[in-house]
Formats: sequence, C-alpha cells, structure tokens
Amino acid sequence: MNDLRGLAVSSGTAASQDIFERALAALNVYRGDAVAIIEEALAVDPDFVMGHVLRAEVLITMWERSVVPKVQESLDRLQGLHSHSNDRERAHVQAISRWVAGDWDGMRIAFERLLADHPRDLLALQVSHLADFFHGDRDNLRARPERVLPAWSANDPGYGLLLGMHAFGLEECGQYAQAEEAGRHALDLQPDDCWAHHAVAHVMEMQARQAEGIAFMQSREAHWAQSDNGFSFHNWWHTALFYLDQGRNAEALALFDRCIRPEPIGVQLMMLDATALLWRMHLNGGDASTRWNELADTYEQSNEAGFYAFNDMHAMAAYTATGRTRAAAELLKAVQSSAAGQDTNARMTREVGLPIVQAIDAFGKGRFAETVSLLLPVRYKAHAFGGSHAQRDIVHRTLIEAALRGGDQAMARALTQERTAQKAHCAFSWGLRQRAA
Ligand SMILES: [Fe+2]
Repeated sequence: MNDLRGLAVSSGTAASQDIFERALAALNVYRGDAVAIIEEALAVDPDFVMGHVLRAEVLITMWERSVVPKVQESLDRLQGLHSHSNDRERAHVQAISRWVAGDWDGMRIAFERLLADHPRDLLALQVSHLADFFHGDRDNLRARPERVLPAWSANDPGYGLLLGMHAFGLEECGQYAQAEEAGRHALDLQPDDCWAHHAVAHVMEMQARQAEGIAFMQSREAHWAQSDNGFSFHNWWHTALFYLDQGRNAEALALFDRCIRPEPIGVQLMMLDATALLWRMHLNGGDASTRWNELADTYEQSNEAGFYAFNDMHAMAAYTATGRTRAAAELLKAVQSSAAGQDTNARMTREVGLPIVQAIDAFGKGRFAETVSLLLPVRYKAHAFGGSHAQRDIVHRTLIEAALRGGDQAMARALTQERTAQKAHCAFSWGLRQRAA
C-alpha cells in the first residue's frame, strides 16, 4: 500500500491510512489534536507502524521533558514491529530513538538521510524542519525544503506547505524579499497555512513594518486564528510584538490576556512566548506582576529545568521578574548540571544557555556589568539554542538595557547604533538610542 504521496507503507488498513492522512493534515496546519486523531487508528489497528511514528513525532515537536515517556511508549511499540517495517519506517524509528536518547543532532541527521531517500515524506520534512527551528539552524531551515522541492510538483497536495517552510528558512537567513514572495505564494495555494503566514509576519517584524504587520494579521485572522488552531498563540504573540514596538502596550497586554495566555497551561512553547512578551515590557519598565506570578508558578510546577536551554532562559526570566531567588538558584543548578552532560542540550547549554541564564539572573540582582560581560560574547551565537531571530531579540534587548542601567554609556551607544542601523524604521529602537545618547 502507498500513502497519498506515493510512499510505501508496510502496514495499516485503508481506514487507518485515511486517519493517518487526517492526522498529518492536522499537524500540517496545527489544527485539532493530531495525537488524538492518530490514536483512533491505533485503537483498532495496533500494529500500524506509521501511526505510531506519527504519534511519537508529533509529541516530539513539543520539545519538552514531559512528553519523553509517551514518545518512549511509541518507540517501544515500533521496535516490536521492526521486522514488519520497511526501510523508510525504520529510518523514522532511528530518528525517534535518537531524540529519546537526547541526541537531537543525530535525529536531524537521521531525517536528512531519510529525506534524501524519500523526499516526498511530508511528515519527516515537517518534523525535521521544526527540529531545525529548535536548533536555530537557519541554514537547514532554508536548505531542507530546498533539498526536497524538486521531487514535488506544484499540483501535489501539500506543495504549498513546502513553500511555507522554505519561506521561514529564507527569512531566518535574512533573504526577506524572497521569503515574503515564497510565503505569499504558499498562502495563495493554501490560505490556512499558518506557518507560511507566520513566515511573512517574521519578515515584517525584522523589517519593522509594524503598521503593515498589524493590518496583515488582522486581515487574515480567519485563516490562522481559528479556535482549534494550536499555533495561533504564537501568531498572536507576533501581533503583540508589532503593538509593543509602536508603544501600544495596552493593546499588547489585551492580546496577552485574551489570546496568548488566557489560562495557565503548562506547555513550554506557550509559556515562553508569554514570558518573552512580559520580559520585553519588564525591560521597558512596565509592571505586569499578576501575570508574572502565574507564569513563574507554572514554571516552578513543571519539571523541565535543564531539559532544553531555550526554555531555561525563559524560566529564569520569570523567576527574575518575580524576585524568586530560590527558584532561580535551583534552576541555575539544574542548568549547570545539564552543561556537564554529553547530549545535544548539554552542548547548547555550555555554548550559550548557561551564560545567558546567568546573565538574566545577574540582571535581576542589579549586577548589570556582569550581564553585559556574559552576554557580549554569546549574543551572536545564541542561535545555537534555538528559536527565531525575533524570539532571541530579548537577548539583545537585555544586553542593551543592562548597559543603560549599569551606566556603561559607550557600550549602550554602540549597541543602540547597531540596532538602528539594522532596524532603521523602528521607532522603539530609536528611543533606545536616544536614551543611550
Ligand atoms: Fe515566530
């Protein structure tokens, strides 16, 4: 049997295959619960290899410790089905097993091998594209779709999704005009591709096109902000950034309450966006203490410290903003112990995660010179722990604020000159430069 893209599958009834396609389509545009959908198939067809693969890989895209036992459960089932699986399915299992072992780099290589052999494997492409994002690997964010695009034709269902991924990679590589063109082309083909929409929003963020950005988000809301869209919180976050940079804090906070953090959910990806927005306001001197307390509580209740360096940075920001010195000290200990490990996160933590966590801790304690000296060497290497340029901007902003508050005028001047050179149309950045002057 083949799937819709012509890839051979070793097992699964026609009904299971239909459910697989439904779950994959849900993942593609982040609508509904792809795990719950595929579990419908697994309930009646427990030996359905690609069903277990999809379940594991969707869980992996959350990139947090809490999902490891569930991914392990799928992996155990898949290892038991090894002799029935085909080579492509085994390559998926290899990628999943690398992730569970903490060898995230190995997982991405396994996917690269798989996609070279099977460039039409849309699940592998999307999951590894997201993995590239979690590594801040802009080259592969752009190149991974490029490697497979020739195996697709514009008439294939899902072709637009590839363009949406390519658009985001182009944006992260600074090729803004091409990124916007690819993103808009993707949206013409598939209007509800919220990842492509998001790529265009990133272009506008990087080019400080705030008014246009707000209009773009609003005009296409029906396509990305549906109530079952699991990615809408992040597109709302981008909308709030446009407002913030225009100095419209009330609008940004209203979006925070209504769309970004309407309830205390312990999903790290959602928590980090909420934290990043409040941290920007915190740096601007704003007070959002009630909101901070809820976030810091949720971080304290989660068991994620030391799992992924990018999440650790945000947890430290929440502890710092709420003055939780005990929680901050415990987090720091967990991060230091991760840095001593051998896995991919250990490398990320050693290279950038640990100094950045320490810098934020020092910032909270008023040791601004220490923040500056910790951040200066790593800020342009910070992609090593993942996220986008827009998300990592809090590292640059924290550095500027530390220089300003610590009275390091020469450094503040230099950094804000750099910022206005790169974002010539950003009123907020000019405001920082004036403060430095
Ligand atoms: Fe984004």
